[in-house]
Amino acid sequence: MKFKILTLFPEIIEGFFSSSIMAKAVERGLIEYEILNIRDYALDKHKKCDDYPFGGGAGMVLKAEPLALALDSIKAKDKTVIFPTPSGVKYTQQLAEQFSKESEIVLVCGRYEGIDQRVIDEYVDHEVSIGDYVISSGEISSLVVIDSIYRLCDGVITKESLEEESFQGKYLEYPHYTRPAEFRGLKVPDVLLSGNHRVIEEWRCKKRYEKTLNNRPDLLKD
Ligand code: ADE
Repeated sequence: MKFKILTLFPEIIEGFFSSSIMAKAVERGLIEYEILNIRDYALDKHKKCDDYPFGGGAGMVLKAEPLALALDSIKAKDKTVIFPTPSGVKYTQQLAEQFSKESEIVLVCGRYEGIDQRVIDEYVDHEVSIGDYVISSGEISSLVVIDSIYRLCDGVITKESLEEESFQGKYLEYPHYTRPAEFRGLKVPDVLLSGNHRVIEEWRCKKRYEKTLNNRPDLLKD
């Protein structure tokens, strides 16, 4: 899987690709990435990438030209262009799974009030929203999307880890504990120390159901 990220703040993206599980996946050749600095594609001498919105209104809009030139520089025919935006469709695990099967994903990181609509019309395949709130950094929403995708790619993490987590099925995850068995007087549930795998499995099923009922009853509707 290859990621290409268009951004005005490459350092935010670089930090993610050079840390933790992602850094290992890159080192092992499972994931490739390229960061394109949108400013490098601005043609005027001040390298201006934003401008006032036509029709008035607050804030600035990312200009079409530098974004379009950066996107034109990506030659891969088979690529999926994603623009994270609060106006997008709800981003879900299902979409992450769909995107993880692609060979090349391009992410456009917005800033300010948004990007020129003509770039969306001409280049973007999917506008996605990571939730019903607004954040100021398109880099962060792009990283959320990247993180949800790369971990599903073959070999990045074990199949068992993926199978048990929230949203793989319809229930949220059960609670986890690790050593020590007692922390500040708080004990790990006895069942987890019993060594009886059938009983542990039953307990985990019950906890997943309880957690889903409490935190996300909407998931149990059908
Ligand atoms: N950029 C700002 N807010 C966002 C959101 N909720 N989803 C995706 N991108 C965003």
